[in-house]
Formats: sequence, structure tokens, C-alpha cells
Amino acid sequence: MSLRKAMIVGAGQVGMACAYSMLIQGTLNEMVITDINQSKAIGEVMDLVHGIPFVQPTKVQAGTFADGVGADIVIITAGAKQQPGESRLALVQRNVEIFKAMIPEIVRYCPDAVLLIVSNPVDIMTYVSLKLSGLPLGRVMGSGTVLDTARFRYLLADELQLDSRSVHAYIIGEHGDSEVPVWSKVNVAGTPLSELGDGEVLPLVKQQQIFDRVKNAAYEIIQRKGATCYAIGLATTQIVEAILRNQNRVLTVSSWVYDRHGLVDLCLSLPSVVNRQGVERVLDLSLDPIELVQLQNSGKILRQILDQIAL
Ligand SMILES: NC(=O)c1ccc[n+]([C@@H]2O[C@H](COP(=O)([O-])OP(=O)(O)OC[C@H]3O[C@@H](n4cnc5c(N)ncnc54)[C@H](O)[C@@H]3O)[C@@H](O)[C@H]2O)c1
Repeated sequence: MSLRKAMIVGAGQVGMACAYSMLIQGTLNEMVITDINQSKAIGEVMDLVHGIPFVQPTKVQAGTFADGVGADIVIITAGAKQQPGESRLALVQRNVEIFKAMIPEIVRYCPDAVLLIVSNPVDIMTYVSLKLSGLPLGRVMGSGTVLDTARFRYLLADELQLDSRSVHAYIIGEHGDSEVPVWSKVNVAGTPLSELGDGEVLPLVKQQQIFDRVKNAAYEIIQRKGATCYAIGLATTQIVEAILRNQNRVLTVSSWVYDRHGLVDLCLSLPSVVNRQGVERVLDLSLDPIELVQLQNSGKILRQILDQIAL
């Protein structure tokens, strides 16, 4: 098996949840963790490596971008984080400035890596990274609505009393307030929601409640405990596995979209095929008219932000 190396930028709650998840799942042979606060990164790595006797052998080090040479993937979780009540989009220019300094250095040392952006607002930061890096389009992606999609499937499965892996459903668009639940495509064993039971399995009111819980999950968790980290750590691990194991897995990562569903030149999430090349292709999804309008609205919101940032 070929060596699998990743660099995680940002040793905060999200970066370390990603690191811990990948460590215990044996995803990598080598992991480099960098942070502007080097002392924190060293402390986090010390804490992590003391668990290595209990997991698959993995080389883990705290380092600089230079130690990332040879990385297959660079996972960017660095940046300012959402404050209670703050929208993801409000973070934007603060993080753009951080990325302006960071991305050219990352590309200098890791020119062949796939860039996986997790920092928020993730769709904007993915677009910014694409522009700043000059890398091929498919090699820059964001975690997008992979987490929101997992939340959606979890809540639907809980309601339907099924294993969430057997519930197929997608959240698309912005990872944020304008995200879109694709109700028309929710299915179990190919059977749409409307045909699942004798009567209405999920009345409209219930559907709205489920989507509200998906959309507001981050706000509520941040309000209660200050950050979200475990589920995004697991979601990121799945994306990394899809890339490193060349899985052709369909995931709602955020990537560059041009001339699709009336969307032009921005990054957002649509079901996409992810493999060793990064985003190999974005799938065509037939949406109902309401979903299409909602997706276009999501794109419009993102495009307005992109028009306002100074790159
Ligand atoms: N995409 C998603 O689904 C998702 C989910 C949760 C959180 N997030 C986002 O992930 C990001 C990180 O969240 P967190 O809770 O880990 O925050 P955090 O504050 O705990 O960690 C951020 C880390 O980035 C570091 N950092 C800041 N500037 C840096 C730089 N220039 N170079 C290197 N490191 C730098 C900080 O020192 C800190 O350790 C936030 O933007 C958050 O909104 C995204």
C-alpha cells in the first residue's frame, strides 16, 4: 500500500477532531499538524501520540508547512471561528486575510496535494483557495454540506427508525443558512418518502422541523458548548478516505460550479464524485422547481459575498 500523508493546518477543536478521527481509523501513515500557535500544536501532538500504541502505527508530528512536503492532502481548519450568534458569512474577510498568507506557502511545499477546506464560511474559503492556489479545479474542495447531509440523514433515520446509512438524502448549496434539503430525492431502498408507508410517513410540519434542526444545529451546539468538532472530524475523515482510497464516492463536497442549474463561477455543494484526483465530476441532479429556486438563491447569496471580498 502506498504511503498516505496529510497535513492539517489549524490545531484547534476541528483540526484535532479530524486528527483524532483519522488516527483511530488508521487513515494515514503520516500526519503533520501545523498551527500559528506552535506550542499548542506541539501539546496537541504530544497528547495524540501517547495513544499510538493503541492504534495503527502512524507518524504524527507538529511542524511547519515545510514538513508537509509530499502530503497527498492538506486539510485546512485554521482561522477565526464562529462566535455565538455569528453567521458563517460574517467571518469571511477575517479568514480571507489568513488564507492570503497561507495558501501560497502551502502550494509551494505541497504542489501535488488535494486541498480540503473546512474553515468557514467554507464555500467562500474554497473559492478563495482555488483562486489563490492556481491548482486544477478538482483539486480544491470544501467539506461543504457533507456534515449537513449527515445531520439530515441522522434525523430522518431517527424519525423513520432506520439505520442512517440506509436513508439516502442530500443537503446541497451553501454550508449555511441558505442550504437546500432535496426532499424530492429522499429515499429508502429507492422508495421515495411519499411511498414509504400507508399514510404520510413524514407530514410537512415534521419535515420542516427536521430541516430546521439540520440548519440550526451548528448555532445550537456552539451556543451550548462553544464549537462543533466530532461530527466534522468524522465527515472529514470520510472525504479523506474517498480521496486516498480512490473510492469514486458520491459526497456533497463544495467545489467550483460553472453553468449548472443557472449557477456561474462559485463554489457550493452538489453531489460529486470524489477520488484520488479530488472532485472528479459534479453529478447532474434533477431538482423540483422549488428546490431549483432555493439552490439558485443559495448561489446568489454566495456570489454576493464573493463580489464583496478583497482577494
Ligand atoms: N465546514 C464545516 O462543516 C465546519 C464545522 C465546524 C467548524 N468549522 C470551521 O472550522 C474552523 C475551525 O474551527 P475550530 O473550532 O477548530 O476553531 P479554533 O479556534 O479552535 O481553531 C482554529 C485554529 O486555527 C489556528 N490559526 C489561526 N490562524 C492561523 C494561521 N494563520 N495559520 C495556522 N493556524 C492558524 C488557531 O491558532 C487555532 O488553533 C472555523 O472556521 C469553523 O467555523 C467548519
